[in-house]
Amino acid sequence: MKAVLIHRHADGAVLALGEIPEPELGHGQVRVSVRAVSVNYADQFVPQGGYGTPPADGVPWVAGLDAAGVVTEVGAGVSGVRVGDRVMAMVASSLAEQVVTDARFTVPVPSTWSDEEGAAAIVGLLTECSALAAAGGLRGGESVVITGATSGMGLQGVQLARHLGAGRIIAVARSDRADDVLHRLGADLVLHSAGCGYADRVLDATAGAGADVAVDHVGGSYFPDLVAAAAIGGRIVNVGRAAGAEATADLEAFSLKQLTLRGVTFRTRTRDELGDLYQQVRDLDLGKLRPVIERVVPWEETEEAQGLLSTGTVVGKVVIRVAAES
Ligand SMILES: NC(=O)c1ccc[n+]([C@@H]2O[C@H](COP(=O)([O-])OP(=O)(O)OC[C@H]3O[C@@H](n4cnc5c(N)ncnc54)[C@H](OP(=O)(O)O)[C@@H]3O)[C@@H](O)[C@H]2O)c1
Repeated sequence: MKAVLIHRHADGAVLALGEIPEPELGHGQVRVSVRAVSVNYADQFVPQGGYGTPPADGVPWVAGLDAAGVVTEVGAGVSGVRVGDRVMAMVASSLAEQVVTDARFTVPVPSTWSDEEGAAAIVGLLTECSALAAAGGLRGGESVVITGATSGMGLQGVQLARHLGAGRIIAVARSDRADDVLHRLGADLVLHSAGCGYADRVLDATAGAGADVAVDHVGGSYFPDLVAAAAIGGRIVNVGRAAGAEATADLEAFSLKQLTLRGVTFRTRTRDELGDLYQQVRDLDLGKLRPVIERVVPWEETEEAQGLLSTGTVVGKVVIRVAAES
């Protein structure tokens, strides 16, 4: 079958269509005919083995971290997923005509969504669901601040926080290009900041109380303001570190406000924890949400598509359409 292969070389990687064997179906797994795959921030780290063990030098690797498509075969022991179901999943090496994945780690694509919307949504749903549920979870009416709000995850986080009954939602971004979309998705206020110095505006927007929950997609110089802008009993959840993995925090404020800092990742989760998270996403009323797509491109243009995320121009997910041979 065809797949988008990562050919590593000394200075980086080249992505190109190639041929690989069809995957074998195991116990509890489903085979999915892939229709669409989205581009994620993490794609840029895959060639260096950032999300798994890289193959030996010279051995190509399949790109892609998520997929939406149609189930064509179910393995022994699978219940609840049938041939013909449209599903979305976070699955490595997904830019191929087929993937196999654990049936528990799939979510039905709502009938009102396209395959492209399924691909655009799944990683954001899992990520933001886990962030908003972390450290006690978001309670109805609580204020939320979301950094890196222009990111695929950020847009999903704003939409999900609104869906889950958040109070004031404050989005923090370093450009204004997604302001209209962020407001449409549920943000009450979009703050523009190149790093530190936005805490006072969050405090003003919450009548001095501060934000109950912070979902941080960038870390680095954006982090100290999340402590300064937090409410008493606030929870700060770090999701991403695009602006830096090191940050400072005023521990005096941290203690006085009795704050909780929590990190979330998929990389160290047990399979049972992951299964629980997929169930949380299946339990959402997904038909009420609408993924935001910047553009859809054919899979021959995967390398260009992955490069788009770092241009600071996209609003929404870039989706790659997989053209299986009929
Ligand atoms: N913990 C998890 O389970 C998990 C899961 C998925 C993603 N993530 C993380 O979540 C983040 C977003 O992922 P994504 O796929 O949604 O990415 P994305 O769409 O490519 O967006 C990246 C975001 O990072 C911002 N950014 C990049 N460099 C920055 C800098 N130096 N200073 C400030 N902002 C900067 C971008 O701002 P501009 O729009 O202004 O360029 C954009 O908002 C990433 O850090 C990713 O690693 C974590």
